[in-house]
Amino acid sequence: MAYLSPTLNVMLGAAKKTGRLLVRDFGEVEQLQVSMKGTNDFVSAADTKAEQTLYRELKKARPDFGFLLEEGGAEEGRDKDSRWIIDPLDGTTNFLHGIPHFSISIALERMGEIMAGVIYHPVADELYYAEKGIGTYLNDHRLRVSARRRVEESVFATGIPFLGRPAHDRFLAELQTVMAHSAGVRRMGSAALDLAYVAAGRYDGYWERNLSPWDVAAGVLIVREAGGYVSDMDDGRNPVLTGNILATNDYLHKPFGELLRGIGP
Ligand code: IPD
Ligand code: CA
Ligand code: CA
Repeated sequence: MAYLSPTLNVMLGAAKKTGRLLVRDFGEVEQLQVSMKGTNDFVSAADTKAEQTLYRELKKARPDFGFLLEEGGAEEGRDKDSRWIIDPLDGTTNFLHGIPHFSISIALERMGEIMAGVIYHPVADELYYAEKGIGTYLNDHRLRVSARRRVEESVFATGIPFLGRPAHDRFLAELQTVMAHSAGVRRMGSAALDLAYVAAGRYDGYWERNLSPWDVAAGVLIVREAGGYVSDMDDGRNPVLTGNILATNDYLHKPFGELLRGIGP
């Protein structure tokens, strides 16, 4: 196992502690499903509690850092160059429906660059983490993206826009193209875990539009440090800011990007 910086250790501790709370609340949701009464309120309370726990743990360890929280918004720190970007519960719809596929995502951004990322899948007890320059790990073993070179042999993950989300037609056109040229498409419902699975070589690639920084900040570093390639779907802008993300192994980035943009094959 690589040397982990004290800051990464703080992130791992905060993710594990919050994960235990989410798993406990998830058990309650499974019971509540039967009556349906109050399930939505219970889940938003679990989400808020998770965010507050992460906030408390990280603030205690690094009092000067700022925050970008999905629920609580932005808070500038005394150290203007460092902030945490946090999604306390990624995969809320799964959590609400009793589907055990959700995660916690924590990124550390320094001077606009993601320096460390943690994604925790608490039900599976899978802890993914990366630090710039040290590689990506799942629990204590090193991860590497897949080695597939051909789109036809590859499995891709995506996110399907739903009620209230834009660009349904555009998504359908992309899906139709990918369906026709790949070995399959998956939609599991947690953008952070989709990226973690690309890093683990389970998916060969992933694309999704209209995401937020907290969905992808940790995952972008986790894929890159596993040897993958992450970009905006359309141009050279920063995908954490545009929210339109394309993540694959190195071989597939060009052909898969061209396929999505309607250029190939
Ligand atoms: C959502 C998940 C999902 C993606 C959505 C996100 P949330 O995050 O990452 O996979 O398709 O667009 O908003 O709301 O569960 O934190
Ligand atoms: Ca999210
Ligand atoms: Ca969320």
